[in-house]
Amino acid sequence: MTMPNGPTTLISQVEQWLVSAFADAGLDTHGVRAVPAQRPDLADLQCNAIMPLAASLKRPPRELAEEVAARLRRQPAFASVDIAGPGFINLRLSARLLAEAAQRQLADAGAGLVAQPRERIVIDFGGPNVAKPLHVGHLRSLVIGESLRRILVALGHDVISDVHLGDWGLQMGMLISELPLLWPELAVPGAWRDAPPFDMDQLQSIYPRVAAACKADAERMALARAATARLQAGDTASVALWEVIRRVSLDAQRRDFALLDAHFDELHGESLAQPLIPPMIDDLLARGIAKPSEGALVVEVAEPGDDAPVPPLLLAKSDGAALYATTDLATILDRQRRLAPQRIVYVVDQRQSLHFEQVFRAARKAGYADGMALVHVGFGTVNGPDGKPYKTRDGGVARLGELLADAVERARERRGDDTGEDAAEAIGVGAVKFADLSTYRTSGYVFDPERMVSFEGRTGPYVQYACVRIGSILEKADAQGISPGPVFVVEPAERSLVLLCARLPEVAGSAAANYAPNELAEMAFALAQAFSRFYGECPVLGSDDAKVRASRLTLCMLARHVLSRALYLLGIAIPKRM
Ligand code: ARG
Repeated sequence: MTMPNGPTTLISQVEQWLVSAFADAGLDTHGVRAVPAQRPDLADLQCNAIMPLAASLKRPPRELAEEVAARLRRQPAFASVDIAGPGFINLRLSARLLAEAAQRQLADAGAGLVAQPRERIVIDFGGPNVAKPLHVGHLRSLVIGESLRRILVALGHDVISDVHLGDWGLQMGMLISELPLLWPELAVPGAWRDAPPFDMDQLQSIYPRVAAACKADAERMALARAATARLQAGDTASVALWEVIRRVSLDAQRRDFALLDAHFDELHGESLAQPLIPPMIDDLLARGIAKPSEGALVVEVAEPGDDAPVPPLLLAKSDGAALYATTDLATILDRQRRLAPQRIVYVVDQRQSLHFEQVFRAARKAGYADGMALVHVGFGTVNGPDGKPYKTRDGGVARLGELLADAVERARERRGDDTGEDAAEAIGVGAVKFADLSTYRTSGYVFDPERMVSFEGRTGPYVQYACVRIGSILEKADAQGISPGPVFVVEPAERSLVLLCARLPEVAGSAAANYAPNELAEMAFALAQAFSRFYGECPVLGSDDAKVRASRLTLCMLARHVLSRALYLLGIAIPKRM
């Protein structure tokens, strides 16, 4: 058994040793893993692969375990190898192996993350509609989407994020037919292109009023439809007005994106794919994939073995209006042609899962997604105290900006004003993000800003505070002229800190595979707790042994490095002071 070479993680190194020992003992190595020990007082890692093997080989598990353990004991990187219970292999790592791993991870800017085979991945999240403010329903898409974007980038992928703005269709016709009634100058293209007479607040209040008027009055609706048709036909004044409405909306929405630190490489929308729709429909008809049905055009997407019936995808209605699914299908074509991704990930409310199932099936059936994985990463709702989707006090839709401002305000109240505006923002927004990300995405959660900004419990501020505290220990050390030095792992609290840090690469990989940032959030929280225990049990600056002091200072640096990396991957900022 030799040390594997090349970049690797502590856990994968141990797994390679395990695999060689199993192979050497003539055993199947499939499913051989090193997982965190259930009894940290007895072991660091454990391997549970013996029991299923013993069952299939009809051999006593402890005997098999002993054969493997005998081989593992030859490896000096293990301080002890024990067999527990029915045949668990318990591994205690040598202090030297842990110290080396700690130093290697600290020296690596990426904190040990291992690049995956590079894929081009489009991540579609955010998805607001024009002329509507961002609301509570956009929170999870933006927060989970941004975290997944960062994780995928950190794992070496070529990631392109796209906001996929709802910027097409009847809603645009409604506004285009209404605005010139309020501002007659808008009827002809002019200087308003650069200085529009309306702002986002006005659009937001005009839009619901027009939408209601159109619903109530067929004549008003006819005007909106006519405006939509003019826009679709490329009428100059309509297109110019559409562009301005889109820009005013997006500029306002961008402020919320910035507050949430959500980054978009592309700010495209549904409009981009519209020119592809007529030829796409021709193609689908010509190949018999689309079929007329009761005056509409549909693509059958039911498959044998479906548990529940999957209704056909509605491609075009009899009035020829652009449809959500048609636009998503054409957007896949657009992305395939422009970007040729290996994967498209949609971070969208799980209530849209049937929509995506239909779109994905239609895309595969049509050959539009060859060589491309299509993934819907669904999420549950943000709920009010009653457990139902969150509403404002008067029953309205809560604005995202207001929810965040409320959390920032509470963070400021808690801290007094000595921390400064930036800190209150980082704490308030970080608190909301952590609460969101620490829940597995498909479960809903209750939006409780008071609990979220608390410094106690499983909260963002608790984790941020660990980082800030380490920062001040390091500053103090610096001021006292104490330098970090080689690591010695002696105390149990030191051992668990190093072990937990070492898991970051595996946790990041697993969070990516499961589209589950909560795995990283859990690890960040556990690490903050492990640091707190370490700091309580192992004096750093107060230790009178210079070597111990220097080693513990390095461990502080490691904890901060890994913790800030994890928070970065979650999209959570770290305030300078708290
Ligand atoms: N604008 C859509 C909505 O408000 C969300 C868009 C999600 N992305 C997508 N490619 N369909 O529901």
